[in-house]
Amino acid sequence: MDISPVHDFLKCQTPDAWLQHAVNDLPTLMIDHARCEKKAASTALSLMFKFPERQSLLHKLSRLAREELRHFEQVFELMRERNIEYQHLSASRYAAKLREPVKLGEERALIDVLIIGAYIEARSCERFAALAPVIEPIDPILAKYYRFLLKSESRHFLDYLALAREYSKEPIEERVEFFGELEAELIESPDTVFRFHSGVPA
Ligand SMILES: [Fe+2]
Ligand SMILES: [Fe+2]
Repeated sequence: MDISPVHDFLKCQTPDAWLQHAVNDLPTLMIDHARCEKKAASTALSLMFKFPERQSLLHKLSRLAREELRHFEQVFELMRERNIEYQHLSASRYAAKLREPVKLGEERALIDVLIIGAYIEARSCERFAALAPVIEPIDPILAKYYRFLLKSESRHFLDYLALAREYSKEPIEERVEFFGELEAELIESPDTVFRFHSGVPA
């Protein structure tokens, strides 16, 4: 599947050092992936509760939340087949750092959160695409599953971006650029923990 809109949107590709680490630690990757799916559903649901009057947000994010929960169940099943037990993992710095510049209560907070959602979905899509060929020789079923996820994750990215455009009263390009730089910095700089959205393993 062609994910060039995702590559055009992101300001950097996943570093090889992260991919190598991921291949050598598939259990952590899978546990954190499951956690991310659960978190993605929860974020979408909480936006639906915070903005109950925004029709297209309700429409798009309801479907998105259902898909993320389905993904959680699918990853959970793939883990079970590999005797990997779900356990609590601390979140990486990624989402928290992306949200740091968002000033709650500000009118543009919703737009910022939607743009961040677009980046998280786009990065997930880019990582699944990068992971599939390197995981193929060790676990072809998992590689196939990552390829299967590309379609929904790239749609989620476009949905979040479309919502940001729809609800913003001004052009969003400058804000998209701002979060794009921050996102790339978090992906390319050394990170103390290895997670699905972590930086380069230190
Ligand atoms: Fe997902
Ligand atoms: Fe998603």
